[in-house]
Amino acid sequence: MVKERLKSPRARLFVALDLPDGVREGIGAWGREALADPALRPVRVESLHVTLAFLGYRAEKEVEPIAEAVRESVGAAPWVELKDPVPLPPRGRARMFALPALSPGTEVLQEGLEQRLVEGGFYEPEKRPFWPHVTVARARPEARGSKRPAVVSDPPAKLPEALSEPFLGVRLALYRSELKSTGARYVPLAQVELPGAGRQ
Ligand code: 2AM
Repeated sequence: MVKERLKSPRARLFVALDLPDGVREGIGAWGREALADPALRPVRVESLHVTLAFLGYRAEKEVEPIAEAVRESVGAAPWVELKDPVPLPPRGRARMFALPALSPGTEVLQEGLEQRLVEGGFYEPEKRPFWPHVTVARARPEARGSKRPAVVSDPPAKLPEALSEPFLGVRLALYRSELKSTGARYVPLAQVELPGAGRQ
């Protein structure tokens, strides 16, 4: 019999709060002008989210227990207020641009999720505090194969008023991240709607 010590198949996983379709489309429409600098690679509209926990590569057999931990972490849909884009890191060449997401409710959901994932042995919490945000663009490399980001000479403009209005996050989702040369693709493996999300 083949022994377990042969490497089990692995998946790159993360858990996210999904945004309403209208908000994702609004960010996409804003980004067509605001993220047009050729040094930027905008995040695809269907991939916009708030990451709650990045798990990295996990054994595929852990997917179901992790999905269960996500289901157990469900709570009331949180209000989210997006802020104008900021570069990361804040100084020097930007590697990415993100919209900070003000949302005490998301912090509560993240705390519960993190606790369950840690208890299950699926996750080691980050040392830095949770910073809810939506990544909207990453800088392309300066040259082929380079790790240095290209210079963004036309940084993203402020958000329009409609996108600064608070909205309710809609669901928790466990995603598999598939890395491709054209950028990552996120495949949902489990999705749980949040109670109250339909109220907006
Ligand atoms: P980011 O949006 O802040 O870049 C899938 O990669 C998601 O997991 C991304 O949204 C990414 O966050 C997040 N993530 C958090 N930590 C990560 C890490 N160490 N490597 C890759 N992605 C990470």
